[in-house]
Amino acid sequence: MSRTDPKSYFVKSFGCQMNVYDGERMAELLDAKGLSPADDADAADLVVLNTCHIREKAAEKVYSDIGRMRRDDGSTPMIAVAGCVAQAEGAEIPRRAREVDIVVGPQAYHNLPELVAKAARGENALDTDMPADSKFGALPKRAKQAPSAFLTVQEGCDKFCTYCVVPYTRGAEISRPWAAIVDEAKALVDAGAKEITLLGQNVNAWAAEDASGTMQGLDGLIRALDGITGLERIRYTTSHPNDMTDGLIAAHAEVETLMPYLHLPVQSGSDPILKAMNRSHSAESYLKIIERMRAARPDIAISGDFIVGFPGESDSDFEATLDIVRATNYSQAFSFKYSARPGTPAAEMTDDFIPAELADERLQRLQALLNEQQMAFNEQTVGMRTRLLLERDGRKPGQRIGKSPWLQSVHLETDAAIGTMVDVDIVSAGPKSLGGALARKEAA
Ligand code: SAH
Ligand code: SF4
Ligand code: F3S
Repeated sequence: MSRTDPKSYFVKSFGCQMNVYDGERMAELLDAKGLSPADDADAADLVVLNTCHIREKAAEKVYSDIGRMRRDDGSTPMIAVAGCVAQAEGAEIPRRAREVDIVVGPQAYHNLPELVAKAARGENALDTDMPADSKFGALPKRAKQAPSAFLTVQEGCDKFCTYCVVPYTRGAEISRPWAAIVDEAKALVDAGAKEITLLGQNVNAWAAEDASGTMQGLDGLIRALDGITGLERIRYTTSHPNDMTDGLIAAHAEVETLMPYLHLPVQSGSDPILKAMNRSHSAESYLKIIERMRAARPDIAISGDFIVGFPGESDSDFEATLDIVRATNYSQAFSFKYSARPGTPAAEMTDDFIPAELADERLQRLQALLNEQQMAFNEQTVGMRTRLLLERDGRKPGQRIGKSPWLQSVHLETDAAIGTMVDVDIVSAGPKSLGGALARKEAA
C-alpha cells in the first residue's frame, strides 16, 4: 500500500525514561525533516508508538493501541512501531497487525526519516539493526526545551538478569563518548534546562576517556557537568549495585548540584532468589552500599525496584524481601509481579512458577509496606524549607508543580515562571505529593 508523505507526527512513548529520551530524539529528527508535531494521535499523519517489552502487559498494549488508531472514516495514519517490542518482535509485528507501516528498533531510529520515505512509497520499512556505529552521531543537535531534561549516556546491558529482556532488546553495554555528552548537556542548558538526568540501563557502569585521555567513571562525568554554568541539578538513573563505586558515593558528599536521590533496584531480599535472578549481589552487600551512601549523604532518598513471584520464591524468600525493605527504608519504589518473558532463562523455570493469586497477595503486602514508607518519608519533610525547580502548571489556576531535591512533587501557589528555582516551606504531605508555600524572606 503506498501512502502520501506525512506532514505531521505524534510520538507516544511507553516504558522507561530511556524510551522517553528516544521519543524526544525521534521528534527532533522529524522536526528537522520539516514535519510538524500534532496535538494527539488522531490529528497526526504519522504515529510513532515507542514501545516497551519489559512485562507481558506492556508488550501486548501496543496491539490494542494499534487497533485504536483506526479513524471514523476507516482510514489509519502511517504507523511506526519503535522501541523494545519492535526490536524483540521485528517482522512479526506487521504480520500480526497489518496497519503497521514501519518497524524500527531502539538502535536504528536515526533512520526513521528514510523509513518514512520508504513506507510512503509502499516499500518494506523495517530496521532492527544494531549497528557498530552508534545512532547518536546521526541525530540533530538537541532542541528540546524543558526545565528538566533527560540525557542518555549509556545504553544496553551486559548483566543478563535471568528474567529480563533488556540485554536482548537494547544490546550490549556501550558508553557514549565524553565530548558528545558534555556538548549535549551544554545544548540542553542553552535551551533552558536547569536539571539534567543522566540515563542508562546501567548508568553507573558508564566509563570513557575524558578530553585529556584519562579514563573516567560516572562520578568524573558528574563533576565535569557540575561545572556547566546554569546547570543547577544533576541526577542519574538506573544504577546497578555492582557498579556503585567509591567515587560515585563520594560525589554525593561533595558535588552540590548532585541531588540527594539514588534509584538502586534490589529486586529481592533473598540470596537464593538473587542468585537465581543472576543479580550478582547479595542482600547484605546491597545494605552495605545503602549504609555507605547514607554516611556520605545523610538525607539521601533511596528508591528501588522489586519483583515478587519470581520462579521458586518461597514464603521465607518473600519475607526476606519485606525485611530488606524495612532495613533500607525507601522514599519511593516500584514493584512488579514477575512476568515470564520469551527467550529469557527464567521463562524456562516453569516447574517453579508461582500461582498468580499468591504473587498478587505478595505484591499487595509489599506495596502496602512501601506506601507506608513513602508516606513517612513525605511526612518527615513537612516543616522543612527547601528549594524547588518549577516544572509545570498544576491543575488549579495559579498553581505550579515543582520537584524537591528528593524528587517529590510539590504543589504551590506562585506566579514565579516555570523553569525557575524557588524557596518553599513544605506545609503538607500526601502519599504521592507535597504541599508547599513560597518561603517569605525573614525581616532583617
Ligand atoms: N536496568 C534497570 C531497569 C530494568 S527494567 C535495572 O537493572 O534495574 C525496570 C524494572 O522492571 C526492573 O528493575 C525490574 O524490577 C522490572 N522487571 C524487569 N523484567 C521483569 C519481568 N520479567 N517481570 C517483572 N518485572 C520485571
Ligand atoms: Fe535487566 Fe538486569 Fe540489565 Fe537491569 S541489570 S536491564 S534488570 S538485565
Ligand atoms: Fe521497556 Fe525497553 Fe525500557 S523493554 S523498560 S522500554 S529498555
